[in-house]
Amino acid sequence: MRKKIYWIEGDGIGPEIWRAARPVINAALAKESDLALEWIELPAGEKAQAETGTPLPQATLQALLNADIAMKGPLGTPIGTGIRSLNVALRQGLDLYACIRPIRYFYGLETPVKHPERVNMVIFRENMEDVYAGIEFAAGSRESRKLIAFLREELGAGKIHETAAVGIKPMTENGSKRLIRRALRFALDNRQESLTLVHKGNIMKFTEGAFRQWGYDLAAREFGTETCTEKNPQPGKLLIKDRIADAMFQEVLLKPEQYHVLATPNLNGDYLSDALAAQVGGLGLAPGVNMSDKLAFFEATHGTAPTIAGQDRANPGSVILCGALLLEHMGVPAAAARICASVEKAIAAKKVTEDLAAQIPGAKTVGCAAFGDIIGENL
Ligand code: NAI
Repeated sequence: MRKKIYWIEGDGIGPEIWRAARPVINAALAKESDLALEWIELPAGEKAQAETGTPLPQATLQALLNADIAMKGPLGTPIGTGIRSLNVALRQGLDLYACIRPIRYFYGLETPVKHPERVNMVIFRENMEDVYAGIEFAAGSRESRKLIAFLREELGAGKIHETAAVGIKPMTENGSKRLIRRALRFALDNRQESLTLVHKGNIMKFTEGAFRQWGYDLAAREFGTETCTEKNPQPGKLLIKDRIADAMFQEVLLKPEQYHVLATPNLNGDYLSDALAAQVGGLGLAPGVNMSDKLAFFEATHGTAPTIAGQDRANPGSVILCGALLLEHMGVPAAAARICASVEKAIAAKKVTEDLAAQIPGAKTVGCAAFGDIIGENL
């Protein structure tokens, strides 16, 4: 049996990390299943720009709209095309509303905290709304002055200075709930202990405060028999709690073992994902997936690393671990576990790419291709 995987190679280090990663993903699957992956490349980024005159051809978008699984390498920000960011265009065009990032520690990495092994969380970040909606106006512009005048005169918002820059933070009940629902389903399916709603509702009452309330309402209404709250904890049920975003940054440093699945609005989730990845020393190993109701689109979380591109120096680990997420999503968790164990073993053997070597005392640096080979052999 074959499963179609649409993939975008990406710019910069994209080609070399995929050359190292795809054989590992294929081999891990072959060891655990009769299923094989049929990789179908879709043009995007610089390659597509050169071939078709646009960095995001309509045919690519259409194929992704019809797909259920896809993967992508990093895409640079195109200059002079009218597209602000290819990643944002893909997210918006495909309604990829949930950005999901697992954060775990790999033994052997030097990290800034004493007990990185206590961190094992999955972040569900809302991906479409919040201050990332792209509605903002420059200080002193005609648009912002007009908006400020409206806010002052019609809505009584007298405190905004007429020269202010302004941004809009839209958050909907539906947009928040579909993200939280997905996080709840994941937490229950994977027998996680708790789900935490991370918000700044003490200050932003009608946006982030509503996110918190919508979360509790949803858990009670749709998952009432399987969940409980801190006010009324019940053994064996998924504990739903909430934390104010600033306090959450302290909590994940001081008591990370008390947190398992996090559901967050866009901005909080963006900050928290990188902070937690740094906490486990794993920025170079962070996989992620963006999901709509139809498509799971796996992607390395780093960029195109242009200064090391084409030099066999990039770390393919993030794409390889994306492969593990993909295989888990496809229902072959044993193949996913095999990849994670192989990455762990490569780190323990201290033969790693230069970025990881800088975090492992006594490590020997190997190139991108060789690191992929080592992980492949460990399978
Ligand atoms: P970046 O992630 O490309 O690089 C940041 C630093 O990390 C650099 O020192 C780079 O050499 C290093 N690095 C990144 N990935 C690495 C890897 N796999 N192995 C070893 N070292 C690695 O971020 P930057 O420089 O801000 O962005 C470069 C370009 O990438 C920009 O055009 C940006 O828009 C794009 N970008 C794309 C993303 C995506 O497609 N998801 C995400 C972030 C940035």
